[in-house]
Amino acid sequence: MQLVPDPNLIVGMERAEDAGVYKLSDDLAVIQTLDFFTPIVDDPYIFGQVAAANALSDVYAMGGKPLTAMNIVCFPVKTMDMSILREILTGGLAKLHEAGVTLVGGHSVEDKELKYGLSITGVAHPQKVILNTGARVGDRLILTKQLGTGIINTALKGGVADEVAVSKAVKCMVTLNDKASELMLTVDVHACTDVTGFGLLGHACEMIEGTDVGMVIYSSQVPFFPEVKELSEMGMIPGGLHRNREFRISMVEISPEIPLFMVDVLFDPQTSGGLLISVPGAEAEPLLDRMHKEGIEEAAIIGEVVAEPKGRIVVK
Ligand code: CO
Ligand code: CO
Repeated sequence: MQLVPDPNLIVGMERAEDAGVYKLSDDLAVIQTLDFFTPIVDDPYIFGQVAAANALSDVYAMGGKPLTAMNIVCFPVKTMDMSILREILTGGLAKLHEAGVTLVGGHSVEDKELKYGLSITGVAHPQKVILNTGARVGDRLILTKQLGTGIINTALKGGVADEVAVSKAVKCMVTLNDKASELMLTVDVHACTDVTGFGLLGHACEMIEGTDVGMVIYSSQVPFFPEVKELSEMGMIPGGLHRNREFRISMVEISPEIPLFMVDVLFDPQTSGGLLISVPGAEAEPLLDRMHKEGIEEAAIIGEVVAEPKGRIVVK
C-alpha cells in the first residue's frame, strides 16, 4: 500500500500509534481514533460505557482533548431485541457526557454478531501531542490502572468469575483516563500510551521498539486484581494473551523467579486499560502523589527507562 505524503500529517499509518494526528494550523491539530468490539460484559449499558471509555482513551493517551464522537454499531436486528441496542447506546452516551464529548452521529449495519464502538475526534496543540515513543533514559514509568481485565472477562464468559472480581474489573474499565491525562500534562511527559489489546508488555514494547533505550519493569510494583492469580491458574486465559506473548517474547527477558500467573498478567489484553506514562525520574513521585490525591488510587511506578539493553524489556 503506497501512502501519499502529506506535510500536515503528524502521526499517520506508518507508526504504531494510538490515533492519527493531523495539523490544521500552527496551533491546532486534530486527533482521530476509532475502536469497536464484541461485548465483553453481559450488561448492555455497562458494555456501552466500557466501549466509550475505551475509545476516548486513545485521545487521552496523546494528551488531547476529545470533542466529538460517532457511534459504530453492528446489530443482529432479526435475533436480538432493539432495547439491548438502546441500552448500549445510552451507556455510551453517558460516558461521552461525563467526558464532555458531543455525539454527532453514527452508522449501523445489520450483522450476525453484535459489535459497538466509537470514532472520537479530539484536538491538541501540534507541538504538544504525546507520542508512545520518546521515552528517555532515567524516566520512570507510571501505570494508572490495574491489570487483569482480560483474564476476568474470560472467566466471566466461562462462568467462573466471582461477582467481586467482575465488579472491580467493570469499575476499572468504565473509568475514564481523562484525569490521568490531565495530570500527566502538568509535567514534562516524554511518552505515553494506553494499555489495551497487546497487554502491558506489548504496549511497552511499542514504546521502545527501534529506539536506543530499553526498559526495566518491576513486576512486584505492577498493580493487578488479586483474583486473577487463581483465575489464570484455572486456565482462564484469553486467546489474545498467548498471541501477545508469542509476538513480543523475543524482546522481553523475564526473570525465572517471576510466577507464571504474573507473566500472564503482564501480557493480558486489556479493555479500556490505564495509561502507561514515561516521565523524568524526579517528576514521577510528585505526579504519582497527585494522581493518588485525585482519586487514581491504583496508579503506581512500575519501572524505568534504561540505556541497556537497548530495544529490550527486562522484567524483574
Ligand atoms: Co491505545
Ligand atoms: Co484503540
